[in-house]
Amino acid sequence: MDRADYWNNAYQAKSDEQLSWYQPQSTLSLQLIDSLKLPSSAAIMDVGGGGPSALAGELLDRGFAGLSILDVSHDALERCRQRLGKRADQVTWLHTDITHFIPTHQYDLWHDRAVFHFLTTPADQATYIAAMQQGVKPAGHAIIATFAPDGPMQCSGLDVMRWSAEALAHAVGHAFVLVASIRETHQTPWGKPQAFTYCLFQRRTK
Ligand SMILES: C[S@@+](CC[C@H](N)C(=O)[O-])C[C@H]1O[C@@H](n2cnc3c(N)ncnc32)[C@H](O)[C@@H]1O
Repeated sequence: MDRADYWNNAYQAKSDEQLSWYQPQSTLSLQLIDSLKLPSSAAIMDVGGGGPSALAGELLDRGFAGLSILDVSHDALERCRQRLGKRADQVTWLHTDITHFIPTHQYDLWHDRAVFHFLTTPADQATYIAAMQQGVKPAGHAIIATFAPDGPMQCSGLDVMRWSAEALAHAVGHAFVLVASIRETHQTPWGKPQAFTYCLFQRRTK
């Protein structure tokens, strides 16, 4: 089964509260985003930002006008669109696999919670990082949240790669500086703890 079918099936079968990654508020992402003091005109890309993620609504509430949401799953994007209602028109929707994505312009902020860790081959990881390098402005930022080294080995039935901040910074490469890393224990809707690593990177200007 290809990735799109896999994720579409997951979304068709489950409500938000049945999805392990569901969180009613994007608390730590927002804390990091707020610390950047971005202008409301900032171009923001949320990779895998469909499904139950509250982030799109939270960023629109803050007045951000340049939000793009990319997801491989049509059902994920549709669920997010439905939740936003009329405000969905303020978002650029990108229906593609991140490993096939060639950015056509550059973002002030690239955000990814729980997508990069599904890329378990060096080839897919390298393609993602190349897109991120191309898609983030010089001095722009990237927030990547993955399972931590003591986090789950699978999510939604798929194998994942678990990352420390140091290993992720190494994988992301010299084009980005690791500005901050924070560990979070996410509680699934049924109360199971999952260790995450959140990393904030800044793209070098040279
Ligand atoms: C675990 S969920 C996380 C969703 C959201 N970021 C959040 O924190 O609630 C992973 C999301 O990424 C999408 N996804 C998985 N692999 C992807 C890929 N290769 N390219 C784009 N989206 C992908 C899935 O459809 C799903 O919506």
